[in-house]
Amino acid sequence: MEENDDRLGDLRRRKSQAKAGGGSSRVDAQHAKGKLTARERLELMLDEGSFQEIDPLVEHRCRDFGMDQNVIPGDGVVTGHGTIDGRPIYCYSQDFTVYGGSLGEMHGLKICKVLDMALKTGAPVIGLNDSGGARIQEGVASLGSYAEIFFRNVQASGIIPQISVIMGPCAGGAVYSPAITDFVIMVDQTAHMFITGPEVIRTVTNEQVTFEELGGASTHASKSGVTHFTASDDEDALQLVRQLVGHMPLNNLESPPSRSCSDPLDRSCDALSDIIPDDVNKPYDVLDVITDIVDSGEFLESQREFAANIVTGFARLGGHPIGVVANQPQVLAGCLDIDASVKAARFVRFCDAFNIPLLTFVDVPGFLPGASQEWGGIIRHGAKLLFSYSEATVPKLTVIIRKAYGGAYDVMCSKHIRGDYNIAWPTAELAVMGADGAVQIIHRRRIEEAANPSQERERLVEEYGELFANPYKAAALGYIDDVIEPCETRSRLVKALEMLLDKQEERPARKHGNIPL
Ligand code: HXC
Repeated sequence: MEENDDRLGDLRRRKSQAKAGGGSSRVDAQHAKGKLTARERLELMLDEGSFQEIDPLVEHRCRDFGMDQNVIPGDGVVTGHGTIDGRPIYCYSQDFTVYGGSLGEMHGLKICKVLDMALKTGAPVIGLNDSGGARIQEGVASLGSYAEIFFRNVQASGIIPQISVIMGPCAGGAVYSPAITDFVIMVDQTAHMFITGPEVIRTVTNEQVTFEELGGASTHASKSGVTHFTASDDEDALQLVRQLVGHMPLNNLESPPSRSCSDPLDRSCDALSDIIPDDVNKPYDVLDVITDIVDSGEFLESQREFAANIVTGFARLGGHPIGVVANQPQVLAGCLDIDASVKAARFVRFCDAFNIPLLTFVDVPGFLPGASQEWGGIIRHGAKLLFSYSEATVPKLTVIIRKAYGGAYDVMCSKHIRGDYNIAWPTAELAVMGADGAVQIIHRRRIEEAANPSQERERLVEEYGELFANPYKAAALGYIDDVIEPCETRSRLVKALEMLLDKQEERPARKHGNIPL
């Protein structure tokens, strides 16, 4: 009996040592930075009381630099599983209070175990990152564990959703696990991601940048596009995770979670009748179109500040999760450029991998002209979007709002690359280019030779407009399935989606395609 008590006491002592992490002063320091601890974060992210820890007693086995005198059970990362809205989730949370959350051999292997279990059981993985990177004392053993994680992230890609939340430092090669995962959320001010820090950059290139300028959340949200969401603090980030996961299936063999819809399925979208300005070159906010159509106006926008000329995000239609892609006429007139093509292509591939139907809104004057775009590789980057839409076999719904010009018409989920339900508003213009440009090319001589060139140009533009600046040529060819009144858009899309949910579309078997990377 006494021996049993001793053993229980020993277990409890070990467990409480693991729970204490790096000790109260380091926990206080963490809180003073506005950061929660690894365990507090998991508690906030998961359903109450659902977390079950794995490997709290794992220890590092480094004997160098006096590390054998400094062993903290758990080794700087809290791992396990729990639920979000009752659905299973695997997770890990790095503990900055233990060796700065640095990733040693065993710390890395704990994360690998979570990834292996998640893949075996078909459950998403959420990683909460807060780490000084490779544990310097452990040398190459640490790099080995990193690579084991990267390899598993790649194996899991397209099988289970993977989300990375950056809640502190994430530097060097450590950034590559988040980069491989499906979505990155960064906490404003406290999260930093970079390959080489400000000091190294100053030495090598003589550039002066602060941590925040180099790799803060706002930089990665607007300049690099590395992060998909910016959170104001830890709590906001963890609520975002819960919201995001609600749009995804647990794995690639399941459907995304539908829920009952209180928004009438046949609701008339009356505001859409006047949304398109009379002047075709005047912008409007495509977000107003999206939110008027989807269930209860709820739209979770991804990469809001990056390549804002295209909008990507999640919504529901008739209770079914959908991924939305839309040209944004307010930015660069909605042109497709390099960043917009890559942003939308990755989003389309995520949705296709996880059985999330795609809804595309088109108002695109074409690809963005310019030498910098050409030299930057708009040809191969634009091809990524074309490739992604063509590859996608999920239900694909397309609404042409206004311009659908040139190659961009083809790319934006046209019928020809297997859009399932393609409709247009009466304001749609499906043509090789806008009327002004077209007339200038095909009637140049006629205009020059006219008695009144500007009057002749105007007449020809009007003539071209009547012929092509409308959806009826395309409707006559069956390239669009119908021209509808804008107010009907929601009810039409809801009905089409219901029909398409069980769609089966196969592609020839192959090892993998060769997307123009
Ligand atoms: C071991 C580390 C560590 C690391 C921090 N610590 N980083 N221990 N390996 N990489 C320890 C510190 O010694 C300290 O221990 C505690 O964590 C907190 O660190 P502080 O420096 O006091 O905290 P702070 O001032 O907030 O600065 C955080 C930091 C800084 C910016 C992350 O610690 C830092 O620059 N660390 C080194 C980052 C780095 O260069 N990592 C390698 C990147 S290359 P005590 O006991 O004093 O509390 C890399 C390659 C990965 O990661 C490759 C994968 C393929």
